[in-house]
Amino acid sequence: MKLPTKTNMVCLFLTLFILGGSKIDPAYGADDSIKLEKQNWSFNGIFGTFDRGALRRGYQIYSEVCASCHSLEYLSYRNLEEIGFTAEEVKEIAAEYEVQDGPDDEGEMYLRPARHSDKFVSPYANEKAARAANNGAYPPDLSLMAKARKNGPDYIYGLLTRYRDEAPDGTDIADGMNYNEVYPGYQIAMVAPLEDETVEYADGTKATLQQHAKDITTFLTWTASPEMEERKSLGIKVILFLVVWTAMLIALKKKIWSRLD
Ligand code: HEC
Repeated sequence: MKLPTKTNMVCLFLTLFILGGSKIDPAYGADDSIKLEKQNWSFNGIFGTFDRGALRRGYQIYSEVCASCHSLEYLSYRNLEEIGFTAEEVKEIAAEYEVQDGPDDEGEMYLRPARHSDKFVSPYANEKAARAANNGAYPPDLSLMAKARKNGPDYIYGLLTRYRDEAPDGTDIADGMNYNEVYPGYQIAMVAPLEDETVEYADGTKATLQQHAKDITTFLTWTASPEMEERKSLGIKVILFLVVWTAMLIALKKKIWSRLD
C-alpha cells in the first residue's frame, strides 16, 4: 500500500503553522524599539482560556482602582455574568452606580440606580471633564485597549509594572509626568496606579504588584475579546472536522484508484 506522503506532509505543515501561529510575533510594544517581557498568559495558544480567578480579581482591581479615571464604555454590567458573577452579584454591583434616565411625566431627566442591562458608568461626563481632572491628559477608555496596542496584554502588563522612580541620567521628565520603561516616549501622565497590596483579594491570592498587573490585564483582554473562548473552541472543531474529512477523502481516493492497480 502506498501512503499519500505529500498530502500527509501538507496536513502536518498546516497544523504546525496553525499551532505555532500565535508565537510568530516577537513581543515588542506600541513603540517598536521597546522590548516587552512575554508573560505566560492562560489565554495564549489555541487551547488557552481565561483564568476565572484572574478575571474576578481583575474586575475588582478595575472597580477599586482604574474606574476612578478610566471608562469601560462597551461593557454592560450583565456581561459580568459571562465570567462567573451571579445575577444577584451583578445586580448589587450595578446598583452602586447612578445613571441618568427620563424624561419623567413632568419632562424632567432624573437619576436612578443602574440596572444589569446598563452600560458601565463612566467616571467623567465627557472628555473635557476627564482632561480637566487629569492635568490635561485624557485617560482613554479601556474596553478595547488590549487589542488597540501591539502585543496588548504584554504591553499593559509592562506598562503597569515598569514605572521607575528615577529616570536614567540625561532624561528630563516634564512636570506632572512619570518615567515608564514601556510607554512610547517613556513619559506618561498616569501616576503608577498599582503597587504591592493595592487591593486585598478575597480569595487569599497574594497581592503583589505583578499579580495585580496580571489580573487586570487578563480582565482587560476579556473585555477586548469576550468571544475568544468560543472562537477558539469553534476553530478546534473546524480543524478536527477538516482532519476527518481529509482522511475520508484519502480513503475514498484510494478505494476508487485501487481498481486501476
Ligand atoms: C488617577 C487617574 C488614573 C488611574 C486611577 C488610572 N489611570 Fe490609566 N491613565 C490615566 C491617564 C491620565 C492616562 C493618559 C496618559 C497620557 O496620556 O500620558 C492613562 C493611560 C492609561 C493607558 C493607556 C496607555 C497608552 O498606551 O496609551 C492604560 C492602558 C491605562 N492607563 C491603564 C490603567 C489601568 C489598568 C489602571 C488601573 C489599574 C489605570 N490605568 C488607572 C489616568 C489614570
